[in-house]
This record gives sequence, structure tokens and C-alpha cells, in this order.
Amino acid sequence: MTDTQFKPGLEGVVAAETRLSSVDGSRGELVVGGFVLEELAPRAAFEEVAYLLLYDELPTPAQFDAFRAQLAAARTLPAATEALLRSASAAGVPPMSALVMAAPTLAIGLPDDREGQAVSLLAKLPSVVASYWRFAQGLDAVAPNQELGFAANYLYMLAGSNASPSRERGMETYLNTVVDHGLNASTFTARVIISTHSDLVSAVTGAIGALKGPLHGGAPGPALDMVFEIGKPDRAEPVIREKLERGDRLMGFGHRVYKVRDPRADVLSAAAREMYEADGDVELYRLATHVEGVALAELERQKPGRHLQTNVEFYTALLLHGLGLPAPLFTPTFAIARAAGWIAHCFEQLDTGRLMRPESVYVGRRREWVPLAER
Ligand code: ACO
Repeated sequence: MTDTQFKPGLEGVVAAETRLSSVDGSRGELVVGGFVLEELAPRAAFEEVAYLLLYDELPTPAQFDAFRAQLAAARTLPAATEALLRSASAAGVPPMSALVMAAPTLAIGLPDDREGQAVSLLAKLPSVVASYWRFAQGLDAVAPNQELGFAANYLYMLAGSNASPSRERGMETYLNTVVDHGLNASTFTARVIISTHSDLVSAVTGAIGALKGPLHGGAPGPALDMVFEIGKPDRAEPVIREKLERGDRLMGFGHRVYKVRDPRADVLSAAAREMYEADGDVELYRLATHVEGVALAELERQKPGRHLQTNVEFYTALLLHGLGLPAPLFTPTFAIARAAGWIAHCFEQLDTGRLMRPESVYVGRRREWVPLAER
């Protein structure tokens, strides 16, 4: 039966069954591969979470070693990808646009089997982002280090030196936290593309394009800009009060789905605290938590009943900044984690789904044909 009721933004429309993640906005719960986020994200290596999503089990030690080694061996980019990244950096293309441009070139030399394709794409996306960023700074790319895990190697390829264990842990936790989030816009895009039995590279490329939009991949930079603008704790209240009084939105607060605190904000806040205390500017962390507290109190005072809580972007910005990443790399880093979710959704769609083909309601006119000379 066709439901002809138009649902703008597909809100409330259920378009897939998934075992990959569950988002409960009223309880503030995110379950990934059967685990509540708080249990999984701070403990697992990113390879364990990617394996869990792809194979529906946590890996045994032997499976983990084999999967990690496969990923490590597949990090080197095709020459054509590297050439494209060099040209794009010379033209000053923003990193997310460079990622959209480079993703289809990863079809070059792609294995035939779907597991091999998943490994190849997952392994190469961080190399694209790190190499591009270095080219954009006028530096040479850093060759991947096969001894390092996924998160540590990404940091190594960005900086050219090994990250400390606390930074490596911070990156693992970040990647795990954003790996999957229900049928968000980019995941839906990937599932639509693969539902036509197109290919994984096309699905991942389309998903990156969807994530690039500020309404989805967001602009986590501005959340941190507010903390820097405030600068010291006693300025938090007047600055925030003034922003709200003139009708500004506080970046890093509010969410369409979560009406209680976004669990990802909690996990990333704890990860940021550990990382900043071990190896960072702990004053900045303290200032950010103070700003958060003042912002929540002022939002409650000036916007009562709207249930505005800290969202994932606030602590994403703080954590990734502490890991040494500049703001333009925040969304590309989100993409390399979410790619594991996209690919797992593609496999699920191929195994259980049908061609996605919703309906539209025609709101145009009926017309009579008028020959060109008579118009
Ligand atoms: N600061 C101040 N007021 C806010 C904020 C905010 N961050 N967010 C919502 N409000 C207010 C609105 O002004 C509105 O007030 P009103 O009832 O007086 O008109 C009320 O809360 C409801 O706002 P909506 O726009 O209807 O809420 P919606 O669910 O559509 O918006 C959104 C969600 C876009 C995230 C919003 O909260 C926002 O703009 N936040 C700031 C930007 C941000 O942090 N974006 C990243 C989100 S995380 C992610 O998407 C991955």
C-alpha cells in the first residue's frame, strides 16, 4: 500500500532495519553493534569496532591481528590519487572537497571481493586526508607505518611523528564514538546508492558528499571558537548571555534527535579530560567545561523547555584540537570513522534490502502543449 502523506525530511519514516546501531533520543542512548557507546568507545581499538560492524562479532585475538594487518598493508594510495591530491592542494581546494574528489580514484586497483574492497577503502581514506593536509601545508606526504594501528597511523601520517599513548587513545575513542549513528543522511545516501547494486566506491563517495554539508558533517570549529573568544572563566557568563540575548545560537548545543544529553558528548568529554590531563593544555579543558556549564544554565534560563543540551560537536572540537588537528580536518576525520559504518550498512543493504524508491507528490500544473512559434 502506498502512503501518500508527504513527510518533509523523511522525518518519522522507517526506511531500513539494521543491526548496526540504535539511537534513542529521548533516553540519550546510542547502541553500536549491540554495545552501549559508553562501554565500547573508550575501550576498543577502532579496528575492533570496524570488525564488529562488518562481521557482527568482536574479533578474537587472531582475527584482530589478521584484520589489523590487512588494513595496515592496504594504506598506500594509488599514484593517480596522490597526483590528484597534489593538484587539488595547489588549487587550494578545501579538505572535504578534496576527499570527495579523491574517493572515486580509490577504485583503481580495488580487489574484486567485497571484504577486500571494504579493507582497501577503510585503510586508504585516512591516507587521503593526511596526505592532502600535508600537501596543503607545502609538505611531503608521510608514508604509512605498518607497525601502527589505524588511529596511531593516522596521527603519524598527519604529524610525521608518533603520537603519545594518550593521544592515540583519544583518537581511537573519537573514531569509535562517531562510527555509526542510525540512518543519518550520509548513511542513507550510501544505502540508496548501493540499493541500485552500484558499487562500494560510489556509495562511499556519495556518502562523503552528503557528510560534507554543514547540516550534517557540521562545522565543529565554531564550537571551539566560542571557547577561545571567551578566553577566561569570568567572561563566560556575560559573553554567552549577550549572544543569546541578541538571538545567536550557541554552537555545540541542541540536537534534533537528542532531547537529553547526547551520549557521544559524555564519551568525548571523558576522553578529552583524560587526554588533556595526560598530555595537553588542561586549562583549556577546564575553561571549556566551565563554558559548557554556563551555556547550559543560560540556555535553560533563556530558552526554557527546549531541552537544549551539549551535542557531539562541542567535545569533538575540544578533543580533536587537543590531538593537534586543525578545524578544517574535523569533518574529514569524522568521514574516515563513519566510513566503517557506511560500508557495513552497504553490506546489510545488499544482504537484506530492496531497491530504494520512494514516492513523490506532484504539485505542478497540467498544461496544454503550445507550439514554439505560438508562445
Ligand atoms: N542556541 C540557542 N538556541 C537554540 C539552539 C542553540 N544552540 N538550538 C536551538 N535553539 C532554540 C531555537 O532558537 C528555538 O527557539 P524558539 O523556540 O525560541 O524559536 C528552539 O531552541 C528550537 O530550535 P530548532 O531550530 O527548532 O531546533 P532543531 O531541532 O531544528 O535544531 C540544531 C537542532 C540545528 C542542532 C540546533 O540546536 C542548532 O542550531 N544548534 C547549534 C548548531 C550546532 O551545534 N550544530 C551541530 C549539531 S550536532 C550534529 O548535527 C552532528
